[in-house]
Amino acid sequence: MAALSNAFNIADVQALAGRALPLPIRHYLEGGADDEWTLARNRAAFGEWVLAQRTLVDVGHVDPGTDLLGFDVAMPLMLSPTGMSQLFHAAGETAVARAAAGAGIAYGLSTMATTSIEAIAATGVQRYFQLYLFRDRGLTRALLERAAAHGYGALCLTVDTAIAGNRERDLRSGMIMPPRFSPGSLLSLAVHPRWSFGALKNRSFRLANVADYVGDIANGGTSVIDYVNAQFDRTATWQDVEWLRGQWPGKLVIKGAMMPGDCHEAIARGADAIMVSNHGGRQLDTVGAPLDYLPAIRDRIGGTGQLIVDGGARRGTDVLKAIALGANGCSIGRPYLYGLAAGGEAGVARVLSIFRSEIERDMALMGRTRIADITPADVHHLSAFRSKPGERSHIFP
Ligand SMILES: Cc1cc2nc3c(=O)[nH]c(=O)nc-3n(C[C@H](O)[C@H](O)[C@H](O)COP(=O)(O)O)c2cc1C
Repeated sequence: MAALSNAFNIADVQALAGRALPLPIRHYLEGGADDEWTLARNRAAFGEWVLAQRTLVDVGHVDPGTDLLGFDVAMPLMLSPTGMSQLFHAAGETAVARAAAGAGIAYGLSTMATTSIEAIAATGVQRYFQLYLFRDRGLTRALLERAAAHGYGALCLTVDTAIAGNRERDLRSGMIMPPRFSPGSLLSLAVHPRWSFGALKNRSFRLANVADYVGDIANGGTSVIDYVNAQFDRTATWQDVEWLRGQWPGKLVIKGAMMPGDCHEAIARGADAIMVSNHGGRQLDTVGAPLDYLPAIRDRIGGTGQLIVDGGARRGTDVLKAIALGANGCSIGRPYLYGLAAGGEAGVARVLSIFRSEIERDMALMGRTRIADITPADVHHLSAFRSKPGERSHIFP
Protein backbone atom coordinates (compact mmCIF):
# COMPACT_ATOMS: atom_id res chain seq x y z
CA MET A 1 0.00 0.00 0.00
CA ALA A 2 1.72 3.14 -1.27
CA ALA A 3 0.35 5.46 1.40
CA LEU A 4 1.61 3.20 4.19
CA SER A 5 5.12 2.96 2.81
CA ASN A 6 5.17 6.76 2.71
CA ALA A 7 4.28 6.92 6.41
CA PHE A 8 7.60 7.61 8.13
CA ASN A 9 6.44 8.11 11.67
CA ILE A 10 3.44 7.47 13.90
CA ALA A 11 1.97 10.91 13.16
CA ASP A 12 1.91 10.01 9.45
CA VAL A 13 -0.01 6.80 10.21
CA GLN A 14 -2.35 8.77 12.48
CA ALA A 15 -3.12 11.08 9.57
CA LEU A 16 -3.92 8.09 7.34
CA ALA A 17 -6.23 6.67 10.02
CA GLY A 18 -7.92 10.05 10.28
CA ARG A 19 -8.72 9.91 6.59
CA ALA A 20 -10.00 6.31 6.74
CA LEU A 21 -12.35 6.71 9.70
CA PRO A 22 -15.65 8.54 9.93
CA LEU A 23 -15.71 11.27 12.56
CA PRO A 24 -17.56 9.47 15.39
CA ILE A 25 -15.12 6.54 15.22
CA ARG A 26 -12.15 8.90 15.06
CA HIS A 27 -13.39 10.76 18.12
CA TYR A 28 -13.89 7.48 19.99
CA LEU A 29 -10.29 6.53 19.16
CA GLU A 30 -8.61 9.86 19.85
CA GLY A 31 -10.70 11.20 22.70
CA GLY A 32 -9.93 11.62 26.38
CA ALA A 33 -11.94 12.59 29.45
CA ASP A 34 -13.23 16.08 30.31
CA ASP A 35 -10.84 18.75 29.01
CA GLU A 36 -8.30 16.16 27.82
CA TRP A 37 -5.59 17.75 29.97
CA THR A 38 -4.23 14.34 30.96
CA LEU A 39 -4.36 13.16 27.34
CA ALA A 40 -2.08 16.06 26.37
CA ARG A 41 0.11 15.63 29.47
CA ASN A 42 0.86 12.02 28.52
CA ARG A 43 2.69 13.30 25.44
CA ALA A 44 4.11 16.47 26.99
CA ALA A 45 5.78 14.58 29.86
CA PHE A 46 8.20 12.92 27.42
CA GLY A 47 9.23 16.37 26.18
CA GLU A 48 10.55 17.36 29.60
CA TRP A 49 13.38 14.85 29.46
CA VAL A 50 16.41 14.80 27.19
CA LEU A 51 18.63 11.89 26.25
CA ALA A 52 22.37 11.73 26.78
CA GLN A 53 24.48 11.18 23.67
CA ARG A 54 27.61 9.09 24.09
CA THR A 55 30.00 8.90 21.17
CA LEU A 56 32.74 6.59 19.94
CA VAL A 57 31.17 3.52 21.50
CA ASP A 58 31.22 0.30 19.45
CA VAL A 59 27.59 -0.02 18.35
CA GLY A 60 28.27 -2.59 15.63
CA HIS A 61 25.63 -4.83 17.15
CA VAL A 62 22.56 -3.32 18.84
CA ASP A 63 20.04 -5.68 20.48
CA PRO A 64 16.74 -4.14 21.63
CA GLY A 65 15.42 -7.54 22.81
CA THR A 66 14.36 -7.95 26.43
CA ASP A 67 12.01 -9.69 28.84
CA LEU A 68 8.59 -8.12 29.43
CA LEU A 69 6.11 -9.88 31.73
CA GLY A 70 8.04 -13.11 31.18
CA PHE A 71 7.75 -12.82 27.38
CA ASP A 72 10.93 -12.94 25.32
CA VAL A 73 10.34 -9.90 23.12
CA ALA A 74 12.27 -8.38 20.21
CA MET A 75 11.96 -4.84 21.59
CA PRO A 76 10.83 -3.19 24.85
CA LEU A 77 7.35 -2.44 23.52
CA MET A 78 4.03 -4.17 23.97
CA LEU A 79 0.48 -3.70 22.78
CA SER A 80 -2.08 -2.52 25.32
CA PRO A 81 -5.55 -4.01 25.37
CA THR A 82 -8.16 -2.00 23.48
CA GLY A 83 -11.84 -2.85 23.20
CA MET A 84 -13.84 -3.29 20.02
CA SER A 85 -11.00 -3.21 17.48
CA GLN A 86 -13.36 -4.28 14.68
CA LEU A 87 -14.71 -0.74 14.83
CA PHE A 88 -11.50 0.41 13.16
CA HIS A 89 -11.10 -2.38 10.60
CA ALA A 90 -13.07 -5.57 9.98
CA ALA A 91 -9.87 -7.61 10.51
CA GLY A 92 -9.84 -6.32 14.11
CA GLU A 93 -7.88 -7.95 16.92
CA THR A 94 -6.71 -10.86 14.73
CA ALA A 95 -4.83 -8.50 12.42
CA VAL A 96 -3.21 -6.78 15.40
CA ALA A 97 -2.18 -10.09 16.98
CA ARG A 98 -0.67 -11.34 13.71
CA ALA A 99 1.35 -8.16 13.28
CA ALA A 100 2.56 -8.40 16.90
CA ALA A 101 3.63 -12.01 16.31
CA GLY A 102 5.49 -10.92 13.19
CA ALA A 103 7.32 -8.21 15.15
CA GLY A 104 8.13 -10.57 18.06
CA ILE A 105 6.22 -8.65 20.72
CA ALA A 106 3.32 -9.39 23.09
CA TYR A 107 -0.35 -8.53 22.53
CA GLY A 108 -2.95 -7.85 25.20
CA LEU A 109 -6.49 -9.00 24.41
CA SER A 110 -9.18 -6.86 26.02
CA THR A 111 -12.19 -8.23 27.89
CA MET A 112 -14.15 -5.92 25.58
CA ALA A 113 -12.62 -7.38 22.40
CA THR A 114 -14.60 -8.28 19.31
CA THR A 115 -12.50 -11.46 18.81
CA SER A 116 -12.48 -14.50 21.06
CA ILE A 117 -9.78 -15.67 23.44
CA GLU A 118 -9.53 -18.86 21.37
CA ALA A 119 -9.17 -17.12 17.98
CA ILE A 120 -6.31 -14.94 19.22
CA ALA A 121 -4.57 -17.99 20.72
CA ALA A 122 -4.68 -19.57 17.24
CA THR A 123 -2.49 -16.73 15.85
CA GLY A 124 0.37 -18.00 18.06
CA VAL A 125 1.24 -14.49 19.32
CA GLN A 126 2.78 -14.09 22.78
CA ARG A 127 -0.33 -12.99 24.61
CA TYR A 128 -1.83 -11.73 27.83
CA PHE A 129 -5.46 -11.26 28.76
CA GLN A 130 -6.83 -8.00 30.18
CA LEU A 131 -9.57 -8.45 32.73
CA TYR A 132 -12.27 -6.14 33.95
CA LEU A 133 -13.85 -7.38 37.16
CA PHE A 134 -17.52 -7.97 36.43
CA ARG A 135 -20.18 -7.99 39.09
CA ASP A 136 -20.74 -11.59 37.99
CA ARG A 137 -17.76 -13.51 39.49
CA GLY A 138 -18.84 -16.63 37.60
CA LEU A 139 -18.09 -14.77 34.36
CA THR A 140 -14.71 -13.63 35.70
CA ARG A 141 -13.81 -17.20 36.64
CA ALA A 142 -14.90 -18.52 33.24
CA LEU A 143 -12.71 -15.93 31.46
CA LEU A 144 -9.71 -16.87 33.62
CA GLU A 145 -10.14 -20.56 32.85
CA ARG A 146 -10.36 -19.94 29.12
CA ALA A 147 -7.30 -17.65 29.14
CA ALA A 148 -5.24 -20.14 31.15
CA ALA A 149 -6.31 -23.05 28.92
CA HIS A 150 -5.30 -21.12 25.80
CA GLY A 151 -1.78 -20.14 26.68
CA TYR A 152 -2.19 -16.56 27.89
CA GLY A 153 1.03 -16.04 29.85
CA ALA A 154 -0.13 -13.09 31.92
CA LEU A 155 -3.32 -11.64 33.29
CA CYS A 156 -3.69 -7.89 33.43
CA LEU A 157 -6.31 -6.45 35.77
CA THR A 158 -7.42 -2.95 34.82
CA VAL A 159 -8.12 -0.96 37.98
CA ASP A 160 -8.77 2.58 36.73
CA THR A 161 -12.28 1.92 35.44
CA ALA A 162 -14.47 1.60 38.54
CA ILE A 163 -16.75 4.00 36.71
CA ALA A 164 -16.57 5.16 33.09
CA GLY A 165 -14.66 8.34 32.27
CA ASN A 166 -16.51 11.36 30.90
CA ARG A 167 -15.75 11.31 27.16
CA GLU A 168 -17.67 14.25 25.83
CA ARG A 169 -16.62 13.71 22.22
CA ASP A 170 -18.60 10.43 22.21
CA LEU A 171 -21.63 12.06 23.76
CA ARG A 172 -21.56 14.80 21.15
CA SER A 173 -21.04 12.55 18.11
CA GLY A 174 -23.65 9.98 19.18
CA MET A 175 -21.09 7.19 19.48
CA ILE A 176 -23.40 4.85 21.35
CA MET A 177 -24.63 1.37 20.43
CA PRO A 178 -26.68 1.15 18.31
CA PRO A 179 -25.37 4.49 17.11
CA ARG A 180 -27.56 7.56 17.33
CA PHE A 181 -25.38 9.72 15.16
CA SER A 182 -25.75 13.45 14.94
CA PRO A 183 -26.35 14.96 11.44
CA GLY A 184 -22.66 15.88 11.24
CA SER A 185 -21.67 12.30 12.08
CA LEU A 186 -24.01 10.92 9.43
CA LEU A 187 -22.46 13.18 6.84
CA SER A 188 -19.02 11.95 7.82
CA LEU A 189 -20.17 8.31 7.45
CA ALA A 190 -21.48 9.12 3.99
CA VAL A 191 -18.12 10.48 2.85
CA HIS A 192 -16.24 7.43 4.21
CA PRO A 193 -17.98 4.73 2.18
CA ARG A 194 -15.10 2.26 2.47
CA TRP A 195 -15.37 2.19 6.26
CA SER A 196 -19.17 2.27 6.24
CA PHE A 197 -19.53 -0.67 3.82
CA GLY A 198 -16.92 -2.66 5.75
CA ALA A 199 -18.79 -2.05 8.99
CA LEU A 200 -22.19 -2.92 7.51
CA LYS A 201 -20.88 -6.12 5.97
CA ASN A 202 -19.20 -7.19 9.20
CA ARG A 203 -21.75 -9.40 10.89
CA SER A 204 -19.24 -10.76 13.41
CA PHE A 205 -19.15 -7.50 15.38
CA ARG A 206 -19.85 -8.43 18.99
CA LEU A 207 -18.17 -8.52 22.38
CA ALA A 208 -16.91 -12.00 21.63
CA ASN A 209 -15.90 -13.02 25.16
CA VAL A 210 -18.64 -11.66 27.37
CA ALA A 211 -21.79 -11.09 25.28
CA ASP A 212 -23.20 -14.54 26.13
CA TYR A 213 -23.12 -13.66 29.80
CA VAL A 214 -24.00 -10.00 30.09
CA GLY A 215 -25.47 -9.06 26.72
CA ASP A 216 -23.92 -7.07 23.93
CA ILE A 217 -23.50 -3.34 23.92
CA ALA A 218 -24.98 -3.41 20.42
CA ASN A 219 -28.01 -5.42 21.53
CA GLY A 220 -28.58 -3.50 24.71
CA GLY A 221 -29.04 -0.12 23.03
CA THR A 222 -26.60 1.44 25.44
CA SER A 223 -23.49 3.60 25.40
CA VAL A 224 -20.08 2.23 26.31
CA ILE A 225 -20.30 4.48 29.35
CA ASP A 226 -23.66 3.01 30.45
CA TYR A 227 -22.42 -0.51 29.80
CA VAL A 228 -19.31 -0.05 31.91
CA ASN A 229 -21.30 1.47 34.72
CA ALA A 230 -23.85 -1.36 34.68
CA GLN A 231 -21.52 -4.37 34.41
CA PHE A 232 -18.21 -3.53 36.09
CA ASP A 233 -17.78 -4.16 39.79
CA ARG A 234 -17.41 -0.82 41.48
CA THR A 235 -16.89 -2.42 44.90
CA ALA A 236 -13.61 -4.15 43.97
CA THR A 237 -10.75 -3.64 46.46
CA TRP A 238 -7.26 -4.99 47.20
CA GLN A 239 -8.90 -8.15 48.59
CA ASP A 240 -10.08 -8.91 45.05
CA VAL A 241 -6.48 -8.66 43.83
CA GLU A 242 -5.55 -11.29 46.40
CA TRP A 243 -8.49 -13.43 45.27
CA LEU A 244 -7.33 -13.11 41.67
CA ARG A 245 -3.76 -13.99 42.66
CA GLY A 246 -5.11 -17.26 44.07
CA GLN A 247 -7.06 -18.00 40.88
CA TRP A 248 -4.40 -17.23 38.28
CA PRO A 249 -1.24 -19.35 37.89
CA GLY A 250 0.70 -17.03 35.52
CA LYS A 251 2.05 -13.50 35.83
CA LEU A 252 -0.34 -10.98 37.35
CA VAL A 253 -0.20 -7.38 36.16
CA ILE A 254 -2.09 -4.40 37.59
CA LYS A 255 -2.96 -1.83 34.92
CA GLY A 256 -3.87 1.68 35.97
CA ALA A 257 -2.10 2.04 39.31
CA MET A 258 -0.19 5.34 39.29
CA MET A 259 0.55 6.38 42.86
CA PRO A 260 3.74 4.82 44.26
CA GLY A 261 1.84 3.61 47.34
CA ASP A 262 -0.72 1.77 45.19
CA CYS A 263 2.03 0.19 43.11
CA HIS A 264 3.77 -0.97 46.28
CA GLU A 265 0.50 -2.40 47.58
CA ALA A 266 -0.07 -4.24 44.29
CA ILE A 267 3.33 -5.93 44.50
CA ALA A 268 2.78 -6.76 48.18
CA ARG A 269 -0.51 -8.47 47.25
CA GLY A 270 1.22 -10.68 44.72
CA ALA A 271 1.34 -8.73 41.43
CA ASP A 272 4.43 -9.27 39.28
CA ALA A 273 4.23 -6.03 37.33
CA ILE A 274 2.42 -2.71 37.00
CA MET A 275 1.28 -1.05 33.81
CA VAL A 276 1.60 2.54 34.98
CA SER A 277 -1.36 4.04 33.16
CA ASN A 278 -4.19 6.55 33.18
CA HIS A 279 -6.02 4.67 30.42
CA GLY A 280 -4.61 6.96 27.75
CA GLY A 281 -6.22 10.01 29.39
CA ARG A 282 -9.68 8.47 29.06
CA GLN A 283 -10.57 8.15 32.76
CA LEU A 284 -9.62 10.68 35.49
CA ASP A 285 -8.74 14.00 33.87
CA THR A 286 -5.93 16.14 35.39
CA VAL A 287 -4.09 13.15 36.84
CA GLY A 288 -0.42 13.27 35.75
CA ALA A 289 1.26 11.23 33.05
CA PRO A 290 2.63 7.75 33.79
CA LEU A 291 6.11 9.13 33.11
CA ASP A 292 5.62 11.82 35.80
CA TYR A 293 5.24 9.21 38.55
CA LEU A 294 7.64 6.60 37.19
CA PRO A 295 10.86 7.58 39.03
CA ALA A 296 9.02 7.75 42.37
CA ILE A 297 7.38 4.38 41.71
CA ARG A 298 10.73 2.77 40.90
CA ASP A 299 12.22 4.27 44.07
CA ARG A 300 9.32 2.89 46.09
CA ILE A 301 9.20 -0.69 44.75
CA GLY A 302 12.92 -1.11 44.00
CA GLY A 303 13.57 -4.22 41.91
CA THR A 304 10.53 -6.15 43.14
CA GLY A 305 8.43 -5.85 39.99
CA GLN A 306 8.40 -4.80 36.36
CA LEU A 307 7.05 -1.39 35.37
CA ILE A 308 5.50 -0.73 31.97
CA VAL A 309 4.80 2.88 30.99
CA ASP A 310 1.47 3.00 29.16
CA GLY A 311 0.34 6.26 27.58
CA GLY A 312 1.65 8.79 25.10
CA ALA A 313 4.62 6.87 23.65
CA ARG A 314 4.90 7.72 19.95
CA ARG A 315 8.67 7.59 19.27
CA GLY A 316 11.58 5.27 19.93
CA THR A 317 13.11 8.03 22.04
CA ASP A 318 10.00 8.00 24.28
CA VAL A 319 10.49 4.29 24.96
CA LEU A 320 14.19 4.77 25.74
CA LYS A 321 13.51 7.70 28.08
CA ALA A 322 10.98 5.58 30.00
CA ILE A 323 13.54 2.80 30.37
CA ALA A 324 16.20 5.25 31.57
CA LEU A 325 13.72 6.50 34.19
CA GLY A 326 13.13 3.01 35.59
CA ALA A 327 10.63 1.26 33.29
CA ASN A 328 11.19 -2.15 31.75
CA GLY A 329 9.39 -1.03 28.62
CA CYS A 330 6.48 0.89 27.15
CA SER A 331 3.07 -0.14 25.96
CA ILE A 332 0.99 1.51 23.24
CA GLY A 333 -2.72 1.73 22.47
CA ARG A 334 -3.73 4.32 19.87
CA PRO A 335 -0.60 3.98 17.67
CA TYR A 336 -1.39 0.40 16.66
CA LEU A 337 -5.07 1.27 16.20
CA TYR A 338 -3.97 4.01 13.77
CA GLY A 339 -2.13 1.31 11.83
CA LEU A 340 -5.15 -0.99 11.95
CA ALA A 341 -7.46 1.72 10.65
CA ALA A 342 -4.97 2.77 7.96
CA GLY A 343 -4.29 -0.69 6.56
CA GLY A 344 -5.32 -3.69 8.66
CA GLU A 345 -2.48 -6.08 9.51
CA ALA A 346 -0.05 -4.31 7.16
CA GLY A 347 -0.81 -1.01 8.88
CA VAL A 348 -0.07 -2.41 12.34
CA ALA A 349 3.09 -4.04 10.99
CA ARG A 350 4.17 -0.64 9.63
CA VAL A 351 3.69 0.99 13.04
CA LEU A 352 5.70 -1.72 14.75
CA SER A 353 8.51 -1.54 12.21
CA ILE A 354 8.69 2.24 12.68
CA PHE A 355 9.05 1.76 16.46
CA ARG A 356 11.61 -1.01 15.95
CA SER A 357 13.84 0.98 13.63
CA GLU A 358 13.58 4.10 15.80
CA ILE A 359 14.49 2.20 18.97
CA GLU A 360 17.44 0.47 17.32
CA ARG A 361 18.76 3.64 15.67
CA ASP A 362 18.34 5.72 18.83
CA MET A 363 20.13 3.12 20.97
CA ALA A 364 23.08 3.23 18.57
CA LEU A 365 23.14 7.04 18.69
CA MET A 366 22.98 6.94 22.52
CA GLY A 367 25.95 4.55 22.54
CA ARG A 368 23.93 1.76 24.17
CA THR A 369 23.83 -1.71 22.65
CA ARG A 370 21.60 -3.52 25.18
CA ILE A 371 18.42 -2.52 27.01
CA ALA A 372 19.96 -3.64 30.31
CA ASP A 373 22.73 -1.02 29.85
CA ILE A 374 20.29 1.92 29.83
CA THR A 375 20.31 3.67 33.21
CA PRO A 376 19.21 6.97 34.79
CA ALA A 377 22.53 8.41 33.56
CA ASP A 378 21.08 8.29 30.03
CA VAL A 379 18.47 10.94 30.69
CA HIS A 380 18.37 14.50 32.07
CA HIS A 381 15.44 16.61 33.13
CA LEU A 382 15.19 19.86 31.18
CA SER A 383 15.64 21.78 34.44
CA ALA A 384 19.26 20.55 34.48
CA PHE A 385 20.03 23.13 31.78
CA ARG A 386 19.22 25.86 34.28
CA SER A 387 21.62 24.54 36.93
CA LYS A 388 24.40 26.77 38.29
CA PRO A 389 27.83 26.65 36.62
CA GLY A 390 29.43 24.83 39.57
CA GLU A 391 26.86 22.03 39.46
CA ARG A 392 27.09 21.31 35.75
CA SER A 393 30.06 18.98 35.64
CA HIS A 394 28.31 16.86 38.26
CA ILE A 395 25.00 16.72 36.37
CA PHE A 396 26.58 16.23 32.94
CA PRO A 397 29.60 13.99 33.48
C1 LIG B 1 -10.07 2.95 21.65
C2 LIG B 1 -9.46 2.53 22.96
C3 LIG B 1 -10.02 1.45 23.64
C4 LIG B 1 -9.46 1.03 24.86
N1 LIG B 1 -9.97 -0.09 25.50
C5 LIG B 1 -9.38 -0.56 26.63
C6 LIG B 1 -9.84 -1.76 27.24
O1 LIG B 1 -10.76 -2.42 26.78
N2 LIG B 1 -9.19 -2.16 28.38
C7 LIG B 1 -8.15 -1.46 28.94
O2 LIG B 1 -7.61 -1.86 29.97
N3 LIG B 1 -7.70 -0.32 28.36
C8 LIG B 1 -8.28 0.13 27.22
N4 LIG B 1 -7.79 1.28 26.62
C9 LIG B 1 -6.58 1.94 27.17
C10 LIG B 1 -5.32 1.33 26.55
O3 LIG B 1 -5.11 0.02 27.02
C11 LIG B 1 -4.05 2.13 26.94
O4 LIG B 1 -4.01 2.28 28.32
C12 LIG B 1 -3.95 3.51 26.28
O5 LIG B 1 -4.46 3.50 24.97
C13 LIG B 1 -2.50 3.96 26.27
O6 LIG B 1 -2.35 5.26 25.79
P1 LIG B 1 -1.94 5.61 24.27
O7 LIG B 1 -3.20 5.37 23.47
O8 LIG B 1 -1.55 7.03 24.36
O9 LIG B 1 -0.83 4.69 23.86
C14 LIG B 1 -8.35 1.72 25.41
C15 LIG B 1 -7.82 2.82 24.72
C16 LIG B 1 -8.36 3.22 23.50
C17 LIG B 1 -7.74 4.38 22.77
